[in-house]
Amino acid sequence: MSLKLTRGDLMRSQNLIGGKWVDAAGAARFPVTNPATGETIVEVANSTAADARAAADAAAKAFKDWRDRLPRERAEILRRWHALIVATSEDLAKLMSMEQGKPMAESRGEVAYGASYVAWFADEATRIYGDLIPQQQRGKRMSAIKEPVGIVAAITPWNFPLAMIARKIAPALAAGCTVVAKPAEDTPLTALALAALAQEAGVPDGVLNMLSASREYGIEAVADWLSDERIRKITFTGSTAVGKHLARESAGTLKKLSLELGGNAPFIVFDDADLDAAVTGVMAAKFRNGGQTCVCPNRIYVQAGVYGRFADLLSKRVAALKVAPATDPDAQIGPMINARAIDKIALHVDDAVSHGASVLVGGKRLTELGANYYAPTVLAGAKDGMLVCSEETFGPVAPLFRFEDEAEAIRFANDTPFGLAAYFYTRDIRRIERVGRQLEAGVIGVNEGAVASEAAPFGGVKESGYGREGSKYGLDDYLSIKYLCQGGLD
Ligand code: SIN
Repeated sequence: MSLKLTRGDLMRSQNLIGGKWVDAAGAARFPVTNPATGETIVEVANSTAADARAAADAAAKAFKDWRDRLPRERAEILRRWHALIVATSEDLAKLMSMEQGKPMAESRGEVAYGASYVAWFADEATRIYGDLIPQQQRGKRMSAIKEPVGIVAAITPWNFPLAMIARKIAPALAAGCTVVAKPAEDTPLTALALAALAQEAGVPDGVLNMLSASREYGIEAVADWLSDERIRKITFTGSTAVGKHLARESAGTLKKLSLELGGNAPFIVFDDADLDAAVTGVMAAKFRNGGQTCVCPNRIYVQAGVYGRFADLLSKRVAALKVAPATDPDAQIGPMINARAIDKIALHVDDAVSHGASVLVGGKRLTELGANYYAPTVLAGAKDGMLVCSEETFGPVAPLFRFEDEAEAIRFANDTPFGLAAYFYTRDIRRIERVGRQLEAGVIGVNEGAVASEAAPFGGVKESGYGREGSKYGLDDYLSIKYLCQGGLD
């Protein structure tokens, strides 16, 4: 299968600032590589603080006009953007597979998923209600209205190059904010194509500004946004370490923050679970995007009575996964994003084995396919103290831990500083109620491995961050409440 684009103009290599596609101020560029082959796809602008400042200037200039537009007008533009994303979905999927490596079926799914946030927030734009507060004193009327927070800086990860940026930009624009955005250095191309489509949809000049930067230059560009008092909000998806850095560094200007950070999701299979359904749930949740998702199960806890049977069923399904580049239409798992990712996966597996785990399936690099491939893996005998227990592996590795009873499962599951997602499988409705309440996570799958939806609130607790994306709550992070007290009415 060829990944050649029908619309070649969607392959952008410059920054979008103030409605113009421009090179980085210093004219520097850096290569974006295909993780399947290591080849350079294209060189893109390598932006620094000067570009970040220019983007913020453009966003500041555009803010008043955008804020003052009727919500219905903003919604209309978002709807056109959505229609263009849908119309070009095959090209967007190809770009995504090229730079991120995910199989085409997954890239197509992600385009639809990302587009659903744009459609959702187009509708939500027209539903930003305030309150008329019941009267407390004669002659006074009190009300609360919602206003856009101001300029938003969106910083997004490489694992979902389209969906993560769409679900930040769409609510920001719907709320009346203007945006400066920096996609991850590994995957700027899909995001830049999305920006080109936003421009085509009629997003006015300066309302959406996007720049690309290498890891090193990006730190400098983002630092400029962090200290810029005009930028009122940072929305970030990525690691907890970077989230904490952003929180610290933006404290000087007290920005509002939405942080969707790392996870260490438990997946609990109780003795009374439908085991086939639980295996299907693990396959959907763990192996989606090759295990490179913040919500994917990192620790799979299986009750002693069904441990052996579950391990057999899962191993069969995992062994049948096809690992291949996105050019193969049957690919189910692609390459990992880069050498750092693959080294971490190998380290976690080796560490588990050296501490007594056994490899049921996989457990090795697939160098015959390329440098960035790792075999989908099932580990039995995983235990507390192994890296797979305490750190996100971010790869196709399913470590199976054994537990005895419900209390132990909950204790193990919550024994982590993170709290993004958790999953459990049981047929007992009283247990569903008990366990659902006790698990410390922002997103919980109950007899379900595929939890993502634009209509649901997505976000974590504990060190997985704060703020919610999607759903009727997703606009709140881009709005501030203003209280008006009108006197002299008696
Ligand atoms: C993530 O991994 O951060 C996002 C996953 C999702 O939206 O389902």
